[in-house]
Amino acid sequence: MAKRRGKPPRIPQLGNHGMDDALHAYATDLSSAEPDGLAALRRATWTQTVKPQMLCDELQGRLLACMSHMMAPSRVLELGTFTGYATACWAEGLAADGVIDTVDVNDELHAIQDQHWDALNLAHRIRRHTGKAMDVLQSGVLFETDARPLDVVFVDADKEHQQAYVDWAIEHVRDGGWIVVDNVLWWGEVLRVQDGTSRDPYAVRIHELNAHMKGHPELDNVLLPLRDGLHVARRKPRA
Ligand SMILES: C[S@@+](CC[C@H](N)C(=O)[O-])C[C@H]1O[C@@H](n2cnc3c(N)ncnc32)[C@H](O)[C@@H]1O
Repeated sequence: MAKRRGKPPRIPQLGNHGMDDALHAYATDLSSAEPDGLAALRRATWTQTVKPQMLCDELQGRLLACMSHMMAPSRVLELGTFTGYATACWAEGLAADGVIDTVDVNDELHAIQDQHWDALNLAHRIRRHTGKAMDVLQSGVLFETDARPLDVVFVDADKEHQQAYVDWAIEHVRDGGWIVVDNVLWWGEVLRVQDGTSRDPYAVRIHELNAHMKGHPELDNVLLPLRDGLHVARRKPRA
């Protein structure tokens, strides 16, 4: 396997939920390479932010881009922008008239986002909202200038309110639209919640969210054990 000298780690924190690091690296190497512009954004994230491990890894980024190409969405909503890496991945497959709205409470990363979205020629496809995700969702701003329904909601902000975000998404995503939630394995801690050996509050909430999505009558779902877990659900058509 090729050495990656001078590059940031592509799979931080892996190894404690059963997916072998070497297999993950193999899958990454045998998938399309991360585009240069995104590699530059990854480097900037690792050199300029204090929690770079929040960044989605190369393989997950390629999966999000692939899903975007499959769905060809006109509207994507992302909760949790961080440095805008996943935003750019989702933007790759947008329909010709497609736009992504992205929300983050942190306004300190705008300069990194602007620099790299400009370099990737994506800035005109992205609408940025600054504030707490629930406030932005409840403000109505997402539909003020664009009444089109949402095709995809990507939930990747704070873990406290994930279920509320998913419930909002079930109400607002179009019939047959998609809800994608990141970090749903919480580095394996959900297994220990399930067998009663952990009461980690984040893991408890995430396990409850996974069960909520699995049991929800309006969703078809698949929980992918990729990196820290990606829950993908299709909103069934309304009666
Ligand atoms: C895991 S990071 C997002 C990673 C990004 N989607 C990616 O894959 O590159 C989580 C982000 O959620 C933001 N966040 C935390 N609490 C929030 C809240 N209540 N509302 C909106 N954003 C929040 C943080 O500032 C952080 O940038």
